[in-house]
Amino acid sequence: MLRLDTRFLPDFPQALKAHEGILLAAREALLSRRKDPGAMLGWLDLPEDTETLRRIRRFREENPWVEDYVLLGIGGSALGPKALEAAFNGGRVRFHYVDHVEPEPVLRLLRTLDPRKTLVNAISKSGATAETLAALLVFLDWLKGHLGEGWRRHLVLTTDPKRGALRALAEREGLAAFPIPEGVGGRFSVLSPVGLLPLAFADADLDALLMGARQANANALAPLGESLPLQTALLHHLHRHLPIAVFMVYSERLKHLPAWFVQLHDESLGKRDREGRPVGTTAVPALGPQDQHAQVQLFREGPLDKLLTLVVPERPTEDLPLPPAEGLEGEAGYLFGKGLFTLLSAEAEATYRALAEAGQKVYTLYLPEVSPYAVGWLLQHLMWQTALLGELWGVNAFDQPGVELGKRLTFALLGRPGYGEG
Ligand code: PA5
Repeated sequence: MLRLDTRFLPDFPQALKAHEGILLAAREALLSRRKDPGAMLGWLDLPEDTETLRRIRRFREENPWVEDYVLLGIGGSALGPKALEAAFNGGRVRFHYVDHVEPEPVLRLLRTLDPRKTLVNAISKSGATAETLAALLVFLDWLKGHLGEGWRRHLVLTTDPKRGALRALAEREGLAAFPIPEGVGGRFSVLSPVGLLPLAFADADLDALLMGARQANANALAPLGESLPLQTALLHHLHRHLPIAVFMVYSERLKHLPAWFVQLHDESLGKRDREGRPVGTTAVPALGPQDQHAQVQLFREGPLDKLLTLVVPERPTEDLPLPPAEGLEGEAGYLFGKGLFTLLSAEAEATYRALAEAGQKVYTLYLPEVSPYAVGWLLQHLMWQTALLGELWGVNAFDQPGVELGKRLTFALLGRPGYGEG
């Protein structure tokens, strides 16, 4: 299971007791809205959805010909699958992400792909996001141009179960389509078909991923002393006066996870509260050990304006021993015979101590290992943490008026009917 280490925050156990009332009330408030689809708490139920998993598996089996998987989507419709696929792709399918609108990389991708072996997956909850629709227009044309009537087999849509342009297209053309349940928003959708469908093509262990998420749900509902989401939410709540929340992961396989977390945290919590006051802390992504040679300088000697979360695996899934080499005894002898993972662990521990010594507020979440089970647990844990912080900070963690405004202004600038300019 996940393990929380707050050894450099000695007052935390007392603070936990002192805040028991508000923490339990926050959890209660969330759970009381669980059955209301408008409350957007459907992510709580995703780990139990075995029927969708069965459909996804069948679709994967029916399409063994896929060699390249192109995901069209942005924000919550891309960041989760990208993070998980980078960590757990155990198969031979190559993944490509069109989560941008820069023409050159799209053209470069199109020139390398074989349409006969490519599956395109357009993902959009709303079916109205300009970036995703633009990419879909490009790939629809490309598929039709190369495959004629056969194009339909090469496009699968992941979208709202009833509404939106993608749902309408799926129905009109008889395309394969998977639902993002009504009560599940973009950044909380990684364990819906948004993440599960690509991961099925990456041959990842979906059972373990969902089992980990179920454990996170059970843990979130445990008494305060065991409930990790209540505890980490309190850590962020106690340090809400610090403007920056660094999320630093010690795993190359999880290198895209910080971007997923940044979206989850910032888009959910950077809001006006009920009194109209701006709230939120700015999540900053960091990767160990690379950032020990970059951002850690600032974290160590710059302003004491951060709460840092370190995410550190406790053991490798497979280690690599460092063989001795003649001539390098002087500089590298201390490494001879040790596993590469021993170095990773020592670096994470050294950073933890160095940051605490510098006076930064820092805690560590240990993963037993970088496995689908542990990461499924971590993702669901972080969604719980975010939802609880929404309660504690008096904001709706599930809307995104600032992002929607940007979308509307883009529509207006491009002359979409009904949006003012053009
Ligand atoms: O978290 C969110 O809701 C957003 O970041 C969306 O995921 C993003 O804007 C893409 O939206 P859609 O899935 O509707 O295309």
